[in-house]
Amino acid sequence: MPLTAYDLSSRTALITGAASGIGRATAVLLAQAGATVHCADLDDKGLRETLELIGGTPGGGESHVLDVTDGAAVEAVVAAVTADGRSLDIAAAIAGVLHIAPALDTTDEDLNRVLAVNVTGVLHTCRAAARAMIAAGTPGSLVTMASGAVDAGYPGGLAYSMSKAAVVQLTRTLATELGPHGIRVNSVAPGWIRTPMTERHDAGLNRTVEESMAARSPLGRVGRPEDVAHAVLHLASDASAFTTGQIIRPNGGVSMPW
Ligand code: NAI
Repeated sequence: MPLTAYDLSSRTALITGAASGIGRATAVLLAQAGATVHCADLDDKGLRETLELIGGTPGGGESHVLDVTDGAAVEAVVAAVTADGRSLDIAAAIAGVLHIAPALDTTDEDLNRVLAVNVTGVLHTCRAAARAMIAAGTPGSLVTMASGAVDAGYPGGLAYSMSKAAVVQLTRTLATELGPHGIRVNSVAPGWIRTPMTERHDAGLNRTVEESMAARSPLGRVGRPEDVAHAVLHLASDASAFTTGQIIRPNGGVSMPW
């Protein structure tokens, strides 16, 4: 029997952060599942590479150069996606930045930059998408990207963990307010995933962070972008029709009590 609940044919998705890592893997997977995927990111070159990977999938896609910190620009992309009465069914707010510094050395400027992308940028994306869904009277799924950083204290993680904790509460609040409109809102909190973001962070540390993260997992490895993309597919699709306000954790088991 075909797994029709995971079939995204005739759905339209907007994915931020789609030029790299988890966002790119998600864009490709959702297009393989049949969605028309609108890929948004600051990085034009990376977007073109993602579009090449999407070429030939059932859903196909388009790219939009976008800074998610610019609320008007996000609204304009959603307006373009929904022009001519097309519906927007899925939005995955994946764009994010990592900042590692001791708490006492974290400047207001550092903190505000991380919050602008990781929190305000996620709100801009969810808000614009939800407004379009409500205006069209169609149901939808919003997926945000938190992090395992919300489950523990990490030295150096002040700005990043604060931002991801805010994403969790943003997700829960939106889930309560948007549920009556048929819009589900969930978050994914991945563990350590090997992407350009974590490669950049670990490069100067001889992969010691990756090794220690792999050692903490009962599965003995860190994650791949596809591990997270499949969690987003689940939340984006009808397979999770009764799931809202939840945080799911593709993290290799690092955060369970044992
Ligand atoms: P990445 O650095 O490979 O990709 C992030 C993408 O976001 C890049 O393409 C970048 O250009 C884009 N971006 C950054 N600022 C932007 C802005 N203002 N407007 C539009 N696009 C912007 O990172 P990765 O690892 O794929 O991370 C994706 C998301 O997953 C982030 O939110 C990150 O915090 C989260 N995450 C990653 C984990 C990991 O271990 N890699 C673990 C937990 C969460």
